[in-house]
Amino acid sequence: MSRILIRGGTLYDPKKRTEGRYDLLIDKGRIVKISDQIPSTEAPTVLNVKGLAIFPGFIDLHAHFREPGEEHKEDLESGSRSALAGGFVAVCVMPNTRPPLSDRSRIEYIRSREEELRLIKILPVGTITKERVGKELAELLEMRDAGAVAFSDDGAWVADGALMRHALEYSRWLHAPIVSHAEDPTLARGVMHEGEVSDVLGLKGRPRISEDVAVFRDLALAELTGGYLHVAHVSSYSAARLIQEAKQRGVHVTAEVTPHHLTFTDERLRSFDTCYKVNPPLREEQDRRALIEALKEGVIDVVATDHAPHTDFEKEADFLQAPPGMIGIQWAFAQLYTFLVLTGEVDLWTLLDALTWKPAKILGEPQWGQIEEGYPAHLTLVDLQHEWVLEERRILSKSKNTPLLGEKLRGWVRWTMVAGKLFSVDDLLG
Ligand code: DOR
Repeated sequence: MSRILIRGGTLYDPKKRTEGRYDLLIDKGRIVKISDQIPSTEAPTVLNVKGLAIFPGFIDLHAHFREPGEEHKEDLESGSRSALAGGFVAVCVMPNTRPPLSDRSRIEYIRSREEELRLIKILPVGTITKERVGKELAELLEMRDAGAVAFSDDGAWVADGALMRHALEYSRWLHAPIVSHAEDPTLARGVMHEGEVSDVLGLKGRPRISEDVAVFRDLALAELTGGYLHVAHVSSYSAARLIQEAKQRGVHVTAEVTPHHLTFTDERLRSFDTCYKVNPPLREEQDRRALIEALKEGVIDVVATDHAPHTDFEKEADFLQAPPGMIGIQWAFAQLYTFLVLTGEVDLWTLLDALTWKPAKILGEPQWGQIEEGYPAHLTLVDLQHEWVLEERRILSKSKNTPLLGEKLRGWVRWTMVAGKLFSVDDLLG
């Protein structure tokens, strides 16, 4: 199993902006040779991938796999299998589980499950505050030593400024980002973006200012402390502008945007489909366009899915009661390729940057997200021509809360390789 020759594909190196037909020889989990032509005698297994694009393995900095505690929605196995089918080799799992990932033993639990499953790299994010209730700083150093790669109270903003300041001070020694879910809850009491559509629907809004105020404070604290801030799921044009200005001043900040904020707006909520209810909310076209620009300019560094499974029962509740979130890790690439790249709004390189070497850099794993001799063999092999329809029976997540059911998408992941271990998406789908 360990030596594989991958033949005939088109290799894309986003960091170098090069594209060409190459064979790859994989041995003991690493890429050992990249060449125009490698004889098939070099390996006992030859994988013919003519017509497929070979990308560095995708990395998702933000997903909810719900284990421990809500395994009826998702668990680390179903989440990992969905990720593999989406071409993801490494996924950061968010700590708003039950109980939250807020101490060493809970982080160790995630790492032990990763070892047991041997699917993708599961990278736990620890909470910033104990039990994620915003009152006391959690034991960040202990969690980091146990394998936490970042810290976040995701789902909630750390409203206590002194705590956030302290966490950011720590982040300098932790070499791990403090990830902010930037929405001030006192300003975000509604269920959708506050604007014309919320007025028409008679639903209470979550205005841009609730995000902007939170981003502004966190940037100011990062600037003061020299700490490392990562802003999760940026959704407003004005927050993107604040991040841009902070970057220009040299603040240590990175940021992410979700596929849904890049492809949908609040207009979709006219359908009252609760799958479109997400936090922060889908905003307006001017926001969507600004997020795309921010991604192109590098103001926003990465695309992260915020894959957030919820049961049908919960999502069938009325709009006020339904929990926020949609799933999407399995088709994130196809969604972005179909609705942004093929429409000409974003070029493929920008998308690949945001899914490969840029998230790798944030994780401090420079050898991930690139295809080089000697580097770990993390690869995503995609048929860019293949059109397919998102049907429920193809969904590997335990939850089905996506508004994209029945949608025609282009770009089909065929193989995902994690440290030399090859997964066929056909096999995963059964
Ligand atoms: O829409 C969301 N769902 N946003 C979050 O921040 C949390 C997430 C979840 O856990 O369901």
